[in-house]
Amino acid sequence: MKTVTSIAELQSCLSPIRGKGQSIGFVPTMGALHKGHTELMRIAKTQNPVVVVSIFVNPTQFNDSNDLQSYPRTLEQDLAKCEEAGVSIVFSPSVKEMYPTPEPQQFDFGSLDKVMEGKYRPGHFNGVAQVVNKLFGIVKPNKAYFGQKDFQQLVIIRKLVEVQNFDIEIVACPTVREDDGLAMSSRNALLTPEQRQIVPIISKTLFAAQNKGSNFNVKELVRWVKDQINSTPLLDVEYFEIADATTLEPIYKWSDAQQSVGCIAVRVGDVRLIDNILF
Ligand code: PAJ
Repeated sequence: MKTVTSIAELQSCLSPIRGKGQSIGFVPTMGALHKGHTELMRIAKTQNPVVVVSIFVNPTQFNDSNDLQSYPRTLEQDLAKCEEAGVSIVFSPSVKEMYPTPEPQQFDFGSLDKVMEGKYRPGHFNGVAQVVNKLFGIVKPNKAYFGQKDFQQLVIIRKLVEVQNFDIEIVACPTVREDDGLAMSSRNALLTPEQRQIVPIISKTLFAAQNKGSNFNVKELVRWVKDQINSTPLLDVEYFEIADATTLEPIYKWSDAQQSVGCIAVRVGDVRLIDNILF
């Protein structure tokens, strides 16, 4: 496995691979790697001879400077996990390397980036799009792998590929969970033992909602999920919305969408967790 920090060095590793016509699979991450990330690498590895992983805590997607500061950084362990997963190249640039000057390009995805995470983290998806756009331009992968854990991000990345005319196939990978159902997240490391014990109620409630499904109307189900979680000590629902899984427009009755998704953000002290479930 090669570890590179400069764009020029990455390009010189990748051009002979492209020359040979080998398919490049790309997994962008912000590090603090867990099984959710390594699963993306595993899937990428089954579909491409060459897998590139980026590890970059992208400052432009953090609307809260405390969140950026407290974001876990564990490069050494991350590199060991990439090596174990059979990754070919890890790209871990500095902020200066990625943004030598303030990034001029701005993205607007219409209603897709105004709802849910976009509403509560203004500017977040503009930052995600800025960095992924740059990374796609640098790595020029054939396929790129994203987790369904960040459902709205996945929808926006598909849109980015469309508006920027990237010739990249986006592969959606299922959410990897702890044994107790908690969606794996780098932010789980920030939870106190007491908080960690309580947070599985989030996914348990989503699974129960999925089982109740159309026996409830949409509004009742939304209320039920919020009440279940808000009545748990330490947990505070920021939003729970049931939306069309393609447009992310809220739905009011089940027949409004072919496939719908329930997306949730919950505050646990200073930590913010997200999860989602398909209906
Ligand atoms: P990060 O949070 O590090 O996640 C990197 C990738 O791993 C994303 O595609 C995310 O959806 C996926 N992932 C995280 N937890 C997962 C889980 N439990 N199961 C399955 N996949 C999971 O998402 C980002 O970084 C950034 O926004 C990024 C796209 C790298 C741009 O900076």
